[in-house]
Amino acid sequence: MVKRQLPNPRELMELMQFKKPDLDARRRRLSAALTIDDLRAIAKRRTPAAAFDYTDGAADGEVSLARARQAFQDVEFHPDILRPAEHVDTSTTVLGGPSALPFGIAPTGFTRLMQTEGETAGAGAAAAAGIPFTLSTLGTTTIEDVKAVNPTGRNWFQLYVMRQREISYGLVERAAAAGFDTLMFTVDTPVAGARLRDTRNGFSIPPQLSVKTILNAVPRPWWWFDFLTTPKLEFASLSTTGGTVGELLNSAMDPTISYEDLEVIRGMWPGKLVVKGVQNVPDAVRLIDLGVDGIVLSNHGGRQLDRAPVPFHLLPQVVREVGRDATVMIDTGIMNGADIVASVALGAKFTLIGRAYLYGLMAGGRQGVDRTIAILRTEIERTMALLGVSTLEELEPRHVTQLRRLQPVTDASGIIAR
Ligand SMILES: Cc1cc2nc3c(=O)[nH]c(=O)nc-3n(C[C@H](O)[C@H](O)[C@H](O)COP(=O)(O)O)c2cc1C
Repeated sequence: MVKRQLPNPRELMELMQFKKPDLDARRRRLSAALTIDDLRAIAKRRTPAAAFDYTDGAADGEVSLARARQAFQDVEFHPDILRPAEHVDTSTTVLGGPSALPFGIAPTGFTRLMQTEGETAGAGAAAAAGIPFTLSTLGTTTIEDVKAVNPTGRNWFQLYVMRQREISYGLVERAAAAGFDTLMFTVDTPVAGARLRDTRNGFSIPPQLSVKTILNAVPRPWWWFDFLTTPKLEFASLSTTGGTVGELLNSAMDPTISYEDLEVIRGMWPGKLVVKGVQNVPDAVRLIDLGVDGIVLSNHGGRQLDRAPVPFHLLPQVVREVGRDATVMIDTGIMNGADIVASVALGAKFTLIGRAYLYGLMAGGRQGVDRTIAILRTEIERTMALLGVSTLEELEPRHVTQLRRLQPVTDASGIIAR
């Protein structure tokens, strides 16, 4: 028998704790986003389809990206119990400098297309969070303007070695003059990947208006208001070099780049040099032997070669071959702070986020990028605490098992794997 009583008015009053409504719609929207997937959903509602798909999409069947994300889902964590970890320290040192978190912002081209604040929002949020920001050669904000937004924090510059080499060399000099501390040479774009969503949407750089894009614009007036009332989209650091946006984009993909270019750049660049887009063990070993300061295991977020190796799968073997002291970084598919924790446990010194940052940007400009970083930070801290570790150095391979879903039938030399 349940004992019953009349409701007590005082107890009832205690239950009625109504929160004051937040009148700032952007803040309300962003604080309701608990995950990067939530930010993606907001981004999709607010951004014209062609711009959203340019960001969200990958090459061909988008298998590289799906597998990279799946690989992170297929992690099993192994926590230790009864290990006091009251305070979790997420800070690290990478490429000779500090970072408050084990991730930085990846280089992305044409970023002001996603949301008009573009790189300014990314660099500002990175500065506030104490993490590095990487500006793309194909960025829509100049090297000098990024420096102005993040004057005391760490700025990295991503380099495409262009067909007209002098253009790239000019950028290297400007980045050095502006005090960028790291140059990231991207090597996985000998030609452009097949971005089928862009073709189907009739998307081009620079964007063109069609009946379809105008119809799609109607429910997204703010994006269009921003687009039409702010400076024209252009590859800002390249605006003085001449050539249309299309010509410059074409020039950025050069199938003749080689190790000789790496040598030339090494000779020109006073800071740390990183090669981004490494996709097998021998290349990783060769680069580290050549003395580069770091490598990024990456398949460009699945935007280049489809069905490419999953960087997270490559990570343990690369770390084993080049040693845990080498600076091995990783990107592609990171959607959760736990993905970052798993990468660090398997030997990554650092990670980069591309879309996770851009979803935040599209969801709410600078505040949206702040929200991305806050979500990832909380997830990293919670995962570390639940694992029973209080510093990143304590993370070890034993904390993570990569569960097998895709099992190779043959190994890299074509031999049937046992
Ligand atoms: C819209 C977009 C533009 C990108 N532009 C560049 C670029 O200009 N240079 C570059 O090296 N990588 C570029 N990338 C790749 C990112 O630097 C990074 O490798 C990738 O986004 C990581 O995967 P994730 O998006 O799953 O985090 C771009 C990625 C996206 C999504």
